Amino acid sequence: MSMIKIIPLGFAAGAQVVGVDLRQPLSDADQRRINEAWLEHIVLVFPEQQLTPEEQIAFSRRFGVLDDHESQAPSTLHPEHREILVLSNKVVGGKKSGTYNSGRNWHTDLSYTTRLAKGAILHCKEKPPVGGDTMWANLYLALETLTPPIRRLIEDLEALHDVTLVRGIEQRDPTVVAEMKKRNPPVIHPVVRTHPETGRKSLLVNQRIRRFLGMSDEESQNLLAMLNAHATSPEFVYRHRWSVGDVVMWDNRCSMHVALGDFDQTKPRVMFRCSLEGEVETGRIARDLAGSDRESMLQAVAAVS
Ligand code: OGA
Ligand code: MN
Repeated sequence: MSMIKIIPLGFAAGAQVVGVDLRQPLSDADQRRINEAWLEHIVLVFPEQQLTPEEQIAFSRRFGVLDDHESQAPSTLHPEHREILVLSNKVVGGKKSGTYNSGRNWHTDLSYTTRLAKGAILHCKEKPPVGGDTMWANLYLALETLTPPIRRLIEDLEALHDVTLVRGIEQRDPTVVAEMKKRNPPVIHPVVRTHPETGRKSLLVNQRIRRFLGMSDEESQNLLAMLNAHATSPEFVYRHRWSVGDVVMWDNRCSMHVALGDFDQTKPRVMFRCSLEGEVETGRIARDLAGSDRESMLQAVAAVS
């Protein structure tokens, strides 16, 4: 019998999972319970866990195929376990870590690749005394609360996602940035996507989108600003205040998140992350995009009038 208790933390997302020690192998019943809760609450918090890298990897593997982090710069991975990405603001060998400012704008993990992540499992190792919270937005609710005319407008829309829009990327170690760019050319994803397990649709927008296909920059920027403002409304957001030992697992197939930089940067913040590989490839690499810009539209109008 499962001893697990699920305690909701927010309306839009977030639930605490108690009564399970993640160092122990999960029973099938517990795994089913956790997976159901994950699909319902999007963000699950397991407090007071102390996992070794091996234990974190073993737990994460129960929920999907682990990403080998091919899209990431090698220097940002755990030296002995490439399944673990180390998010740290510590100075190593006189250099800032390549992840010291990761996640600072609203994003869905790996939207700059053709295969968005299924989810991630983040374990808090060290944290500053105050600040450095993480927020998640429920993108099912974001889509479901748009009015029918806007729904129709975006139904078949595609967006160009670009790794160079990762906020603060230019302040990172230039070799890390060069690696990220080389590994990740701009990609196209649909704006409305369907969750492979729940079958529900959600709104795939974030702050790493360059433009919508077939729209002028002006149209793209305004529409994107409107959609992002809507999707990150407080009503759709869960904000997590970390404690050391927290394991947080999020469903990346229907959410976006942001790591807040509101803390004393001389204080360490260290997280170990396992990433789950997406089950489906929804994106394609952008090649030879003929952009329709406003100037050429005006020229075309002038030619026919
Ligand atoms: C991530 C991320 C959030 C954080 O691991 O994908 O965005 O709070 N991190 O560090
Ligand atoms: Mn992230």
